[in-house]
Amino acid sequence: MSADLSQLLNLREMEGAAAEVMSPAAFAYYRGGANDEVTLRANRDGYAALRLRPRMLVDVAHIDTSTTVLGVPLAFPVGVAPCAMHGLVHPEAEVATARAAASVGSLMTLSTMSHRTVEEVAGAAPERLWFQLYLYHDREISRALVARAEAAGARALVLTVDAPVLGRREAIIRTPVFTKPGTVLPNIGQRTPGSEHLDDLSYFNTLLDQSLTWSDIAWLREQTSLPIIVKGILTAEDAELAAQHGAHIWISNHGGRQLDTAVTALEALPEIADTVQGRAEVYLDGGISRGTDVIKALALGARAVFVARPALYGLALAGENGVRHTLELLRDEIRLGMALCGKTKISDLGPDLIRW
Ligand SMILES: Cc1cc2nc3c(=O)[nH]c(=O)nc-3n(C[C@H](O)[C@H](O)[C@H](O)COP(=O)(O)O)c2cc1C
Repeated sequence: MSADLSQLLNLREMEGAAAEVMSPAAFAYYRGGANDEVTLRANRDGYAALRLRPRMLVDVAHIDTSTTVLGVPLAFPVGVAPCAMHGLVHPEAEVATARAAASVGSLMTLSTMSHRTVEEVAGAAPERLWFQLYLYHDREISRALVARAEAAGARALVLTVDAPVLGRREAIIRTPVFTKPGTVLPNIGQRTPGSEHLDDLSYFNTLLDQSLTWSDIAWLREQTSLPIIVKGILTAEDAELAAQHGAHIWISNHGGRQLDTAVTALEALPEIADTVQGRAEVYLDGGISRGTDVIKALALGARAVFVARPALYGLALAGENGVRHTLELLRDEIRLGMALCGKTKISDLGPDLIRW
């Protein structure tokens, strides 16, 4: 039975409700961060610590939250971040998430580690799909995936660069998941011989290329005409390299799941925006739970933000309707927050809104 969404007034309440309907192992997998979870907590707390400087006596009768990301129109500046294995929480998996995102004018980023194929998910979110990629030892698997994503209609490739090895997520070690050995994630294709005893997550880890460097961005550039976004950037130095390689920038610490005590996206944003100076689009994720969080990120130079766990909790609670509820809560909070800040359109959001 689906949750009564009308009683869930904000994203934190949705997380609490999701914890009650998800299996303990699945909840631990989604919620958890690395080590002491310092970065996981800081992702959220950082937004609350930053204060807004609202302007008064501005005509806010009409608020326009719309923007674009790499030419894709967004009704409000929030997309869904890539998140593995939506099928752990709902049978319609990534297809439901994509439908919800498309239905409110948002955007879905499909994880490589999805339970549904990129073709199916693209069908559920025409024109509103980005595809997230890891690079594998076997570049042929990566090349084939890029070709499939492009043919299916993905509008950009998001190359995740912050997970050459996986962080130590102790909650997950304590409450192990979940998938049956020998199954296969449909975007990865055939298993290599001898890997049948591994579950999906363990198998996937054997594919990752730990020797990835900036020269591989050039390789990827040759495989596709799609825009490339590098996800996992946390410093001005790497943002500069990304811009030099013709890539766009997704600031992220992987939801606090990789290097614990790493800086938050919000902390990294000012130096990155200052370095990039509009040469590339800049996005961020991590800990967004209120419309004012989105307003703060945009005020400091992000073009849009992305949410992973909040979408997944919505999916766990009520499938497509639940994801839509998550996105609509954020949309409505952004609109309200902008009105109370005296800002009527996205381009009005600038650093003058923030008190340091
Ligand atoms: C359960 C889970 C699975 C994730 N899987 C992926 C993935 O497959 N690829 C990826 O690039 N990021 C993945 N991420 C990271 C998210 O894209 C995002 O960077 C992070 O969760 C921050 O957003 P949040 O605080 O809104 O969850 C995952 C995060 C979670 C929580």
